Amino acid sequence: MVDVTVGHGGHSFLFGRKLGPKGVLIGMDIDSLSLQRAQARLADLDCQVVLIKSNFARVAECLGEFGLRGVDFILADLGFCSAQLADAEIGLSFRNEDVPLDMRIDESLETTAADIVNGYDEKALADLIYEYGQDRASRRIARFIVRRRQQERITTTGQLVEIVCSALRRPGSRPRARKHPATRTFQALRIAVNRELENLKTLLSVAPTLLKKDGYLAIISFHSLEDGLVKWDFKGKQSEGTYRVLTKKPIAADRDEVMVNRRARSAKLRIAQKN
Ligand SMILES: C[S@@+](CC[C@H](N)C(=O)[O-])C[C@H]1O[C@@H](n2cnc3c(N)ncnc32)[C@H](O)[C@@H]1O
Repeated sequence: MVDVTVGHGGHSFLFGRKLGPKGVLIGMDIDSLSLQRAQARLADLDCQVVLIKSNFARVAECLGEFGLRGVDFILADLGFCSAQLADAEIGLSFRNEDVPLDMRIDESLETTAADIVNGYDEKALADLIYEYGQDRASRRIARFIVRRRQQERITTTGQLVEIVCSALRRPGSRPRARKHPATRTFQALRIAVNRELENLKTLLSVAPTLLKKDGYLAIISFHSLEDGLVKWDFKGKQSEGTYRVLTKKPIAADRDEVMVNRRARSAKLRIAQKN
């Protein structure tokens, strides 16, 4: 099987225990630190474990280089783990103290969040915040960003939080507010910087060529943009006869799981089986 977002190896560990000594588990991740953690977590498994540092958009090439012609299971648990979101150096979270506005998980990417915020014209910024952040105040936020950057370059998460809060006329994060005002703008920039939707589209398009007959593709997504792509891809390929969709509705975490892991509340799991 291939776990294209091995992270700290939580899912892979559970699957690896089922695979047994003849199984091969390939774990991919874009982030070196996650791979180090996965290595420690998966060290005692009986199956062969191969960890590869790569974007999952390159999964077909990676499996080819390893000499694998078909896999029984592809698992993707999209997005980032809590440790990455909390990593001040990447600047993914608006909750961090003032850190550089970067957001690249993959160091080989060239464009940072600061490049977008300072370089896009006002309309393109508003469209990005609307499309990827689904924030109805996108035009106003874009206007405030452009106004501020005429005075100084926007380089830190703190500056951006302050701009968004003033655009939305909120003084700052309120401890009891359900959503921080900057949540959607940060989500939009993170998706754009890390090319998250493009990577997912590539994974969806190559998956049928990598799966053996009756092999499974399981994808956990965390926001409606990703889940929509998965849902329509599975539906389309079911009507072409490539897949059988096993999840008519996506599987969600139950209350007990959400109690111990709050981020699971927005997770949606969809599974397809190759014909
Ligand atoms: C939610 S975590 C996965 C957690 C994992 N399932 C576990 O049990 O520990 C998502 C992981 O996917 C990685 N990731 C995100 N986008 C990626 C991409 N395009 N290619 C490869 N890895 C990616 C992140 O670095 C992160 O480690």
